[in-house]
Amino acid sequence: SSSVLNVQELIKNPLTSIPSCYIRPHNANESEIVSAADEEIPTINLKCLIHGGEEASQIELQKLHSACRDWGFFQLVEHGISKEMLGNLNEEIQEFFKLPLEEKLELKIREGEVEGYGTVILREDQTLDWGGRSVLESYIVECDNVAMRIVELIGKALKIEKRDELEEVFEDGIQAMRMTYYPPCPEPDQVLGFNPHSDASGITIINEVNGVQGLQIKRNGIWIPVNVTSGDLVVNVGDILEVMSNGIYKSVEHRVTVNSEKERMSLAVMTQ
Ligand code: SIN
Ligand code: FE2
Repeated sequence: SSSVLNVQELIKNPLTSIPSCYIRPHNANESEIVSAADEEIPTINLKCLIHGGEEASQIELQKLHSACRDWGFFQLVEHGISKEMLGNLNEEIQEFFKLPLEEKLELKIREGEVEGYGTVILREDQTLDWGGRSVLESYIVECDNVAMRIVELIGKALKIEKRDELEEVFEDGIQAMRMTYYPPCPEPDQVLGFNPHSDASGITIINEVNGVQGLQIKRNGIWIPVNVTSGDLVVNVGDILEVMSNGIYKSVEHRVTVNSEKERMSLAVMTQ
């Protein structure tokens, strides 16, 4: 993509109106109702699931099961990734997005690996050459551990007999990461940061890098804003897990809205 199509570059010049390519088409079938934010995605405590003792961990496992079945999304607390590491990571990512475009484009790992505007996609076997490399790599390793724990627990919750097989699918799977920058937009209602989609992954772990909200999930035809507490993570069921759970767990449609004042950054790690 050329710099003209890079939203981060675009907003360097005062914007009076949005280039038409960013205006989202209004689809008559598309629900535009946004919930009054009184509904919240469930919260799951990973520490309680693993160390909570027999009774507490059973109750939490049931909550995890209902969250994956009825919501497809949950907020993960006490996930074991330290506040310090998350803080360092999030600082590095914000620094990265401040780099001049040319420097960011140097991160083009292989032809075609930088997708769209402001979006960097890379995979585990590719090295990323920037200051935050080590903290990013450590985070990916930690995320992978968290993801594997969740997959194990899901196997238990679903009472899958050959649980090893479920785990093996994910252990051998590839991991992908997407770092996204959503600039502020003067007409936030006219655009979307990320169009409605479901993830192709097994599970996805989202970190809201600078604490700005924008993620919404579709539930009973209504868009529900996801409110994440700083330091917590958002986990969602992807298409692969929906299939592997025989459709019991739902890979739910979600989108990202933008803000008129604040930029937003997120980091999604997909295990598939
Ligand atoms: C996504 O990966 O669907 C977007 C996540 C986000 O930016 O919150
Ligand atoms: Fe997604």
